[in-house]
Amino acid sequence: MKIAMIGTGYVGLVSGVCLADFGHQIVCIDKDEAKLALLRDGKIPIFEPGLDALMAANMAAGRLSFTSDLQQAITGAQAVFIAVGTPSRRGDGHADLSYVFAAVRELAAVLTDHVVIVTKSTVPVGTSRKVADLVKTVNPALDFDVVSNPEFLREGAAIDDFMHPDRIVVGVQTDRAAAVMQAIYRPLTDRGFPMLVANLETAEMVKYAANAFLATKVTFINEMALLCERTDADVNAVANGMGFDQRIGPKFLQAGPGYGGSCFPKDTRALARIGQDYAAPLQIVETVIKVNEEVKRVMIDKIIDLCDGHVRKKTIAVLGLTFKPGTDDMRDAPSLTIVPALVGQGADVRVVDPQGFREAEELLPGVTWYDDAYAAVQGADLVVILTEWDDFRRLDLARLSGSMASPRMADLRNVYDCDDALAAGFTYYTGVGRKSVMPPA
Ligand code: UDX
Repeated sequence: MKIAMIGTGYVGLVSGVCLADFGHQIVCIDKDEAKLALLRDGKIPIFEPGLDALMAANMAAGRLSFTSDLQQAITGAQAVFIAVGTPSRRGDGHADLSYVFAAVRELAAVLTDHVVIVTKSTVPVGTSRKVADLVKTVNPALDFDVVSNPEFLREGAAIDDFMHPDRIVVGVQTDRAAAVMQAIYRPLTDRGFPMLVANLETAEMVKYAANAFLATKVTFINEMALLCERTDADVNAVANGMGFDQRIGPKFLQAGPGYGGSCFPKDTRALARIGQDYAAPLQIVETVIKVNEEVKRVMIDKIIDLCDGHVRKKTIAVLGLTFKPGTDDMRDAPSLTIVPALVGQGADVRVVDPQGFREAEELLPGVTWYDDAYAAVQGADLVVILTEWDDFRRLDLARLSGSMASPRMADLRNVYDCDDALAAGFTYYTGVGRKSVMPPA
């Protein structure tokens, strides 16, 4: 089947490459000529393991191409996916739909034959219906269907997530549209991956509800961690104990410095706004947003406490800046709150990240960049593990502590164990929700 994909951002590119790999004929459309040139050259503008190789293979097989020519891309296409950005709108937290509607307007103006218009971008409930209204206004004679098909890709594992989804969610208004979506995803449903077919609003809601629920799970364990610290309970063991209950499950119970990324913060904010708009406020989601901010502040306090009450003129090595490992994405990363607070309070902050440097240099002024954790901690007063990159999971703790002026560690991802850190020469250590040894207050 020929499919056009509007937008070659993270979602559009991953979806386009994977759909091509199913055997479909995919034409990706973008306005950014420089980006298109890069893509045609087999290079990808984002960091996503395995994506470049899969893209190259499908381009070589003649199933995947890139163009700025919308007319050419849609000719003969049975479906057009819209995968443009829906960032948080400045000021009010609503999703900014201007890119979606701009794409739909342009698309509707050039369509002549029946097509299924699929919204892949994360959009508030009701948007797909507005997309349909807009198409009707621009091109009243056109025969078309709209579909909502949210994505659940995790950065760093996007290809695997696309190829082995927990579920495919499809919101439709007609059987005809459902049949096209079933044909597109047949390579997955034939292998037993479930497809939920529902109405447009339900599909849109599933995406927000799932992300808000996962953000709640993470925030729940983060808040539990703070209580564990006061009671000598160990949050990792608590999470294990909870996770064995199949109704709860073990995933997304890793305590840390707060969730970040391109989805959880934006989608929880947008969902909270939707709840307010419909006079059905989502108090749990609103609280999750607040607690997540609070968790980041608590991490700053932890660091200050570890530095004997102030960080002025202290040298702090921060390992990891991206919102999670396996990505170069800095969006809403906890480091963006924590690092500037330390710089603002007069600390000399050194940073290391295997990927974050691409974006973070502009976002984090006043820090010194290092290529390597061992170099960054030389003579430092504190090392902070902020993102659990594999490089930081296998550090030689004795070597680390041996080169520090004052060996102290804030392990905000619970990578190490307090006793191991002390045995390796650290004087003070704190994790999140676990045994810590802190300087006297
Ligand atoms: C998420 C969803 O998982 C995905 O389904 C959705 O479509 C897009 O948003 P992503 O943002 O890539 O994916 O990252 P994810 O792995 O879900 O992590 C989100 C945040 O939660 C990260 O900041 C991560 O560090 C944090 N997290 C996650 C924890 O702190 N503890 C956990 O146990 C799990």
